[in-house]
Amino acid sequence: MAFRVCLGVTLLLFVWSTAKCDDIPEGVLDMECCDRFLMIAVNLSFTGNEPRFNAVDGTGVYPITKQYAAVCGYSISVLPLQGHVELQASYFSCHTGNKDDKVFTFNFNLIATHEGKLVTYALNKACSPVLPWSPREVTCETNYMEVSVRREVTCPSETKEANWQAAPQTTYASNASDWQVTLHGDGEKLMPINPSKAHKQGYVIHLTDGRLVFRTPYGQPDSLSTEVNGVPVEVVRATLFSRQRWIILIVDLVAACSMDEGSYDDRGYMVWETPEVMHPLGSGLHMTQVNIGLNGELEEQRVAVERGYIVEKHNTTLQTSIPYNAPGGYRKSFVSGNLYEFYVFDLYLEQISVDEDKVETRLRFHRTLATPLLPRPVFTANRTVLEERTFTIYLGDVPEDVELAAVNLNGQEHTVPFTNESSRAITNVVYPNNTHGYTLKVPFDDPDVIQQYSREDAVLYYRLDINYTLTVLPENELYYHLASIEALFTDVYPPSLDAACSESGISFKLDHRPFGYLWELRVGSDPLTSELAAQHGYIMSNDSRSLLLNVPLFTHGYKYKDVTLKGFSGTFEVIVWDREASEFQSSAFTTCLFSAPELIMCSADGMMTVVADLSLAIPRGGIPARTNLIDKNCGPREADDTRALFSFPINSCGSLVKLGKENVTYQNEIFYGKNKVVSGHAERTTIQCTYPLASLYRLFSVYKFESDTAGIGSIIHTKQPAAALQSPTIKSTAAPAATALPVSFRPAVHLPEPYVKVSRFQVEQWNEDDGNGRILAK
Ligand SMILES: *[C@@H]1O[C@H](CO)[C@@H](O)[C@H](O)[C@H]1NC(C)=O
Ligand SMILES: *[C@@H]1O[C@H](CO)[C@@H](O)[C@H](O)[C@H]1NC(C)=O
Ligand SMILES: *[C@@H]1O[C@H](CO)[C@@H](O)[C@H](O)[C@H]1NC(C)=O
Ligand SMILES: *[C@@H]1O[C@H](CO)[C@@H](O)[C@H](O)[C@H]1NC(C)=O
Ligand SMILES: *[C@@H]1O[C@H](CO)[C@@H](O)[C@H](O)[C@H]1NC(C)=O
Ligand SMILES: *[C@@H]1O[C@H](CO)[C@@H](O)[C@H](O)[C@H]1NC(C)=O
Ligand SMILES: *[C@@H]1O[C@H](CO)[C@@H](O)[C@H](O)[C@H]1NC(C)=O
Ligand SMILES: *[C@@H]1O[C@H](CO)[C@@H](O)[C@H](O)[C@H]1NC(C)=O
Ligand SMILES: *[C@@H]1O[C@H](CO)[C@@H](O)[C@H](O)[C@H]1NC(C)=O
Repeated sequence: MAFRVCLGVTLLLFVWSTAKCDDIPEGVLDMECCDRFLMIAVNLSFTGNEPRFNAVDGTGVYPITKQYAAVCGYSISVLPLQGHVELQASYFSCHTGNKDDKVFTFNFNLIATHEGKLVTYALNKACSPVLPWSPREVTCETNYMEVSVRREVTCPSETKEANWQAAPQTTYASNASDWQVTLHGDGEKLMPINPSKAHKQGYVIHLTDGRLVFRTPYGQPDSLSTEVNGVPVEVVRATLFSRQRWIILIVDLVAACSMDEGSYDDRGYMVWETPEVMHPLGSGLHMTQVNIGLNGELEEQRVAVERGYIVEKHNTTLQTSIPYNAPGGYRKSFVSGNLYEFYVFDLYLEQISVDEDKVETRLRFHRTLATPLLPRPVFTANRTVLEERTFTIYLGDVPEDVELAAVNLNGQEHTVPFTNESSRAITNVVYPNNTHGYTLKVPFDDPDVIQQYSREDAVLYYRLDINYTLTVLPENELYYHLASIEALFTDVYPPSLDAACSESGISFKLDHRPFGYLWELRVGSDPLTSELAAQHGYIMSNDSRSLLLNVPLFTHGYKYKDVTLKGFSGTFEVIVWDREASEFQSSAFTTCLFSAPELIMCSADGMMTVVADLSLAIPRGGIPARTNLIDKNCGPREADDTRALFSFPINSCGSLVKLGKENVTYQNEIFYGKNKVVSGHAERTTIQCTYPLASLYRLFSVYKFESDTAGIGSIIHTKQPAAALQSPTIKSTAAPAATALPVSFRPAVHLPEPYVKVSRFQVEQWNEDDGNGRILAK
């Protein structure tokens, strides 16, 4: 059932006229015969926002305007919260068929707007209320008051005592036009008028088979607004006269209703008051029963207690209290700076009283009550667990008609749900108490998280300022909620590497610490990755606990110093780079002493340093100290029994330069004695350094040699005299006796264009000659 339930018994009513509303889809319309009125509810999304109703009877079609409704016993309310429009029609309403006050037939037209067109639907219903009519009934509707009394009355007991035996019972005249009515205004002179004149003034006097009905809208000129025990009351008193031959009948009718608008108390109840007796004419009444309910339905006592409804009598005032969140009420969120909510109830109250003759008066109130705006704060709770390295923040108590539309994380707006693949997440949890909550997770290393590291204090600080955008549905009113969350870690130190020397190189060890990801290890300007390690021949192993890096001697990145025949020092540096600040943090560098029987180093600044074993290259009895290079003035810097150490600028000492397509080779040779042509000994010793052309700043500069990288050197021991010098390509591996330790470096960066152009131009020219390049003597 889409709308409301009237008392179960009404469902048993027999319906003799089937509603003709074929065009109205299932579930859109609800028609219920209630105790004292017919209720029609139609879904607003079907009717459009301004539905209209016409009352139809044999005499015509009558548009139910606001004013007409109050006069004729109809009330129409558009209830956007409930999503429907309601028409309530009194059984005594103007255009309702009445058979013996038992069967009432209603015919209405509903005029709805569909796609800009007006469409009329016929709504027909017949009701036979089972609740018997009390001798006196007063209905305080939202827009009118209606009194009905039984036409057949027993004379009051005093009259009986006075022995008016002639007419212990009598019936009112059957024709309304036989009556005159006097309305008791505020002390005005009373002038009787006939019912049709009264109707023009908004009063309806109407006779049915068994009852006399009087109805008046609120706020009529003749109505009296007063206060009874501090409760506002509106009263209309009418006296009706009828002369039937020799009898004059006088009926005094009082329509009196509490006009209390209800108040909200600090216990969380909506309180509504009505005086037990609203007019002196009712002073002989004793209240026997009060029934209460919401939405036109009276509840059983048990249910009323269960739902927390309270009815109390304070002196002579009846006080009704309904918990603000009682089922049957409607709640709505509202933004006015802050987030608020309010509740709306349709209170239905019945008060039954009897006079001393046990004649019953039934009084019914229909009142719409609304709480004031009540603060409805949402809250955020910090549910971060530091070990997860993720901010977890919960936004709770979000009312069901409020939705999270976006979150702003440190100034970055993200609509919800998150569209992009990322490690941040938001989840929604719905609770049975009609609230829901959102859990937001943002990892500390998310780009939106503010991260600060203080080197001095070794403290790492994360912060996330959140601005939640909440939308109140359906009008999409926006509300912002702010939260700020931070996390702090102390004792956060940059990685520290242990280094150890070995015969073949240097090894580094790093024990992983939390937040190690803040830093990056670098060799030169290159981040240390497994790809880089593979490229340069480093041996790296890394697991969750530690990283081991073994850097073999003569691999990329070494710096050498103090080369003597005894040995030399090699230095390797691993840089700890601060990712966030993008700056150098610290470095681990170690210098180890190495020794090698032979070696050649081609430095980036153009020095060739060679330790060569010359035992097979010099004649028996000769000493290495007497060797020299192509330029015989270039002798060894140091020599012992078998080896000599030369160190000279590559383009001096008679070096030959061989230009290839991509690289340039400087070549020299070690001779024994003054003669260039040596005979009688077994071996020639060629020494050479090769540099990639791309890394050279300037070729053949007499004054300065500059390269990005060190060159690749080789010491070539050949049995065949001069073979190597004439070979167009020179490879260290070509020499079977090569014992050199090649020092290989690769260019880290390519040269800026201008430098390359100069050298390329020259290379291409020379290449034209023989296609392979050639050796130029200097
Ligand atoms: C009214 O109709 C709309 C759309 O058909 C539906 O979503 C809504 O639940 C209905 N409202 C009620 C109160 O039944
Ligand atoms: C009621 O009064 C009207 C006008 O005075 C008259 O035409 C009509 O016949 C009367 N009806 C009855 C039932 O007396
Ligand atoms: C009842 O009325 C008396 C006298 O008017 C007053 O003193 C008392 O406070 C009232 N009690 C309540 C509960 O309103
Ligand atoms: C999704 O990612 C793209 C590219 O990374 C970015 O341009 C876009 O702004 C992101 N959208 C949202 C909603 O975060
Ligand atoms: C609703 O229920 C949830 C879960 O039980 C609770 O955390 C929250 O405080 C409740 N909210 C209200 C407004 O009662
Ligand atoms: C939260 O976001 C809204 C919309 O972007 C903005 O108007 C408001 O100023 C923000 N609040 C704060 C404190 O930044
Ligand atoms: C939030 O929780 C984390 C982890 O328990 C805590 O370190 C932090 O101080 C808390 N408070 C705020 C305001 O972020
Ligand atoms: C080594 O492993 C750790 C943890 O598994 C990882 O965080 C780190 O990035 C790795 N380092 C390198 C250089 O691969
Ligand atoms: C010199 O360049 C050639 C290509 O022209 C290349 O194959 C060779 O490996 C290079 N030599 C060295 C030592 O880099």
